[in-house]
Amino acid sequence: MNIKTSNDSKENIIFYPYWEESTLLPAEILSKISEDKDYFTAKGQVRRYFLSNKNILVIHLGKKEKVTLESFRQFLSSTYKIAKKELFKSFDVTLCYDGLGLKKEDVFYSSLEGLLLSDYEYDKFKSSKNKKFKVEDVTLIIEEIPNSLELINKAKLITESVFMTRDLVNGPANFITIDYMEDFAKEIAGKDNLKFSVIREEQLLKDGFNLLHSVGKGSVQRPRLIELEYFVGNDKPTICLIGKGIIFDTGGLNIKPENFMSDMKSDMAGSATALSLIHCISNLKLPINVVSLLPMAENAVDGNSYRPGDVIIAYNKKSVEILNTDAEGRLILSDALSYSDTKKPDLTIDFATLTGAAIIALGTKIATVYFRDEKYKQKMFDASKKSGEAIWELPLFEDYKENLKADIADVANLGTPSRQAGSIMGALFLSEFIENQQWIHFDLAGTAFFDKEWNYNPKGGTGFILRTIVEFLGKM
Ligand code: BES
Ligand code: ZN
Ligand code: ZN
Repeated sequence: MNIKTSNDSKENIIFYPYWEESTLLPAEILSKISEDKDYFTAKGQVRRYFLSNKNILVIHLGKKEKVTLESFRQFLSSTYKIAKKELFKSFDVTLCYDGLGLKKEDVFYSSLEGLLLSDYEYDKFKSSKNKKFKVEDVTLIIEEIPNSLELINKAKLITESVFMTRDLVNGPANFITIDYMEDFAKEIAGKDNLKFSVIREEQLLKDGFNLLHSVGKGSVQRPRLIELEYFVGNDKPTICLIGKGIIFDTGGLNIKPENFMSDMKSDMAGSATALSLIHCISNLKLPINVVSLLPMAENAVDGNSYRPGDVIIAYNKKSVEILNTDAEGRLILSDALSYSDTKKPDLTIDFATLTGAAIIALGTKIATVYFRDEKYKQKMFDASKKSGEAIWELPLFEDYKENLKADIADVANLGTPSRQAGSIMGALFLSEFIENQQWIHFDLAGTAFFDKEWNYNPKGGTGFILRTIVEFLGKM
């Protein structure tokens, strides 16, 4: 898809955004709209007019005071979907934004994202021989933006990174194996000039990564810890990104019921995010050092699987009593979190499809986030507002820690009573294994994988949170 900017429209298919009181549309369109104003009332509605030999499509963005950058992302996503359905190879989109209190560059950039992020389909395994229709040229009509090419390239890179995450998450577990993740990460490291290393097998045990090793020991795919590093200089802050990499989560011996297991190929979304992020950040050449840690394992059912009742000594030497083998994500992450402390980063962020309880709490369109400290909180919420990816904070409520008491070990991997505050209990468990005061935890169980499409997010893997983190780290 080629994207251009221009200050006047040449195509005969033109999309316009509309909100009440908008005065920027051409008078003849406004007068047409006013004729059927009573019917054209709600966000998302589309009206078509044929004026001076041009196809005019007007999309309602909702009430003026509610029009945000996200409205423009969704607007462009609608134009793309209509174009695809109606086989428009090329079209123009007029960006009017006066009186909304939004910056021209931001409106332009969000529009680019809405367009690019919609152009995704996971069709690797479809053998359909029909030639797919492609939108070829889109022109955004807006006054001159001096750095428009730079913004287009940035939006393309970030979109490509989001798609990298989506592809890894959508890929079935028999293709996206642990070996595949290692090879893929190695390939990315080679292209992006990143340091790359892997800790595996005996070395995991020698180094004390017993939680990671135990979770993975029931699978023929051997567990490992993949590490990538983007180094700029000692005078720059170091950020550690950690992603849960459960290639498939059967629940282990506490096996999941069938309808809870079906989407569990997506349980490595955190690791896909941490990998795509370091790729994106190094290509954007952000002036920060980044270490990405991907603890990878398969939570499988086998004679050699770890069991409920087992006690395992973690990397930080705390003993963990296993009450439920399905609470495996927090185990592999904990070893990676403790290991991250040895690198003394300025900030550690982990990403994990950790608990079904996060979905119960906030649904699938809001990511759950935990902050140990206030320092980066406002910055993260500002980044989320800019990206349009909603986040909401739940507390690391210290008094609940006693619910993690174990009979014969330091800590249990499940809260008692087990159905209370599930996402918080997962986060509190993790907090036992990281010392860094600057630690942020994302529970992405709801947002990483959609069961139906939503605006520019497809059904399946979403790549949710990547854009927020790139925005956040861009402001470090
Ligand atoms: N991978 C799951 C969490 C999950 C559930 C992610 C649904 C995406 C969609 C995690 O490993 C898990 O099974 N968690 C348990 C924890 C419980 C045993 C404390 C859960 O949420 O039920
Ligand atoms: Zn599980
Ligand atoms: Zn899991």
